[in-house]
Amino acid sequence: MTDMTLTIRRPDDWHVHFRDGAMLKAVAPHTAVQFGRAIVMPNLVPPVTTVKAASDYRERILAAVGEGVSFQPLMTCYLTDQAEADEIALGFEQGVFSAVKFYPAGATTNSDSGVTDIKKVYPVLERMQEIGMPLLVHGEVTDPTTDIFDREALYIERVLKPILNDFPTLKVVMEHITTKDAVDFVRSQADSGRLGATITPHHLVINRTDIFKGGINPHLYCLPIAKREVHRLALREAATSGEAQFFLGTDTAPHARHAKESGCGCAGIFSAMTALEIYTQVFDDEGALDKLEAFASLNGPAFYGMAPNEETVTLKRTDWSPQEFVTTEDGDPVRVFGSGETLAWKLV
Ligand code: DOR
Ligand code: ZN
Repeated sequence: MTDMTLTIRRPDDWHVHFRDGAMLKAVAPHTAVQFGRAIVMPNLVPPVTTVKAASDYRERILAAVGEGVSFQPLMTCYLTDQAEADEIALGFEQGVFSAVKFYPAGATTNSDSGVTDIKKVYPVLERMQEIGMPLLVHGEVTDPTTDIFDREALYIERVLKPILNDFPTLKVVMEHITTKDAVDFVRSQADSGRLGATITPHHLVINRTDIFKGGINPHLYCLPIAKREVHRLALREAATSGEAQFFLGTDTAPHARHAKESGCGCAGIFSAMTALEIYTQVFDDEGALDKLEAFASLNGPAFYGMAPNEETVTLKRTDWSPQEFVTTEDGDPVRVFGSGETLAWKLV
C-alpha cells in the first residue's frame, strides 16, 4: 500500500477566499499548486461588485500566483441590495464574472453589504436566470435569535425553496453544505440538474465536538459551523457517492493567527495547502478512491458548463506532516488546516 499512487484529472476548487495584498500573495500560490481553476469569493472590503473591480482583482491574483503556473481564477460578483442587473450581465458576457455570490447580510465574514431582503434582488435573479448565470448562496438564515446550529436547515425552507420556486431554471449552488438536511434536499433536486452543492474538506473530517476537544479550538471555527457527527457522516456519504450535484469547494478562508486566537475569533479555516490530500484521505477511508475524480475534477466543471481540465495530478500514499503556518510578507502567520496531524496522501 505504501507506494500506491493515484492520478486524476487536475481538480478545480469551486470556493476560495484569496483576500488581497500580503495575504493574497501568501495564499494564492498554494491553491494554484493544487487546482487548475478556482471560484474566487468576492467578500473583500469593499466587496467586489463591479466588472472593473473583478478584472483588477483577477490581475492581482494572477500576479500573486506568478508566471508559468497554469491557473485560472474565476471571478464572482458580490450581490448587494443595490446590484444592477445590467452590470452583472455585462460582466458575465465579457467572461469576467462566472457567478454571483449571495451573502445574507450579517451571515459571515465581510457580509455586511449583503442582501437584506431577497425581494430587492429579484430583478437581478430574473436576468441571471435568463442568461444562465449561477447564483452561489451562503445558506444560513441570519435571524440572530436562531440557534447557530439550525441556521442552514432553516435556510433551505425559508430562502432556498422560495428562490428555486420563483426562478424555476436559475442555476444555484448551495455552498459549503454542513447538514444531512442539505444533502437530502440537494439530492431531492438532482433531476433538475440546476442545484449543486460544494463540500469542504474540514466538514468531512470534523464535527462540532472537535471544536471543543481539550479546550476551545479557534482554528476549527468556520461558518457554517461544523455540526453533529450524523451530519458529517451524511456529507462523507454524499461527497464519495460520485453523484453529479456534489463537488469540491474548499472554502479556504485565511485569517491571521491573532484574528483567530482572539477573544472574538474570526470564522474561517485555511486549507489551501492540504485540501486535496485531506479529500483523498476521506475517499480512501470510505473505500471510494474511484469516485474522487468525479467529485474533484468532473462534477464542478459539468455544473458550470465548462470542460474538465486536460492536465492530471498524481497523489502518492505516504505519511507526511504539513507545516504549521504560512507567513505573509507582513509577518502574519496563518494556521494550516491539518498541521499537527499525519496525512496519508501527498500531492507529488
Ligand atoms: O468560515 C468562513 N469564512 N465562512 C464564510 O462564509 C466566510 C469565510 C471568510 O471569508 O472568512
Ligand atoms: Zn466561503
